[in-house]
Amino acid sequence: MAQIIDGKKISSEIKEEIKSVCSQLVKEKKQLPGLVTILVGNNPASKAYVNSKAKSCNEVGMVSKIEILDESISEEELISLINRFNNDKNYHGILVQLPLPKYINESNVIKSIIPEKDVDGFHPINVGKLVIGEETLIPCTPYGILELLKRYNIETKGKHVVVVGRSNIVGKPIANLLLQKRDGANAVVTIVHSAAKNISFYTKQADILIAAIGSPKFIKAEMLKENVVVIDVGINRVEDANSPKGYKIIGDVDFDEVSKIASFITPVPGGVGPMTIAMLLKNTLIAYKHLTK
Ligand code: GUN
Repeated sequence: MAQIIDGKKISSEIKEEIKSVCSQLVKEKKQLPGLVTILVGNNPASKAYVNSKAKSCNEVGMVSKIEILDESISEEELISLINRFNNDKNYHGILVQLPLPKYINESNVIKSIIPEKDVDGFHPINVGKLVIGEETLIPCTPYGILELLKRYNIETKGKHVVVVGRSNIVGKPIANLLLQKRDGANAVVTIVHSAAKNISFYTKQADILIAAIGSPKFIKAEMLKENVVVIDVGINRVEDANSPKGYKIIGDVDFDEVSKIASFITPVPGGVGPMTIAMLLKNTLIAYKHLTK
């Protein structure tokens, strides 16, 4: 049976580390790090994410603000609000919850956040720095995966990592990060996606498999070799009559069968998910340190 990679535990440890930095700042009567989260419209899932981000900020002693905007807001108005926070010294991180309504150009909005406050790491300047291996704000989910591998002493150097999925939020950045010599990742990386003729041909070669597809239980045991390390980034809502909410969250990996052959595995929930918020706080602290230097 695979050893469980406990993202809940590691994320609590990281939050504790950040909390102690914040209480030290209070003792020294210094300014605190601040994060503003902007939500357009009232999608219930997005609202839940935004609230839990703000709650975590408060838990560690950071300043947090949620701006909820009406769905009818124009792109110009949204960008002008972002500009206000670009110039507001109380906030060191700006996060615009995605997806945005269709008539707002996501790319224009992301580019309007100054790279120094882009705690999502989505700005093209930060993406470029990540690809060439310069220090930058790293997207929270990939950053969380790196932290899990590090804290479980999972060697990546020379290992074959197969990333399933090519999103800008997870697939592309984690592949680039693991490729870097810097920070000791130094892995051999393959990215596969929906156009691959035979996904198993690639996944079977993985020493470390990262599933970020958005398809419930897509990865089966027969697609993998024994002792593979499995990182499941999937967060899929599926109907569940036994749950009071009527649904449950499952990953992109068939946990029951894959956990029998893997050496390590992240559960869903409780694996990568909690790490994303912890690394958002970490990024806010990093942005704060740069901006107040
Ligand atoms: N929506 C889903 N994931 C994310 C994320 O990592 N950042 C933002 N801003 N929105 C999201």
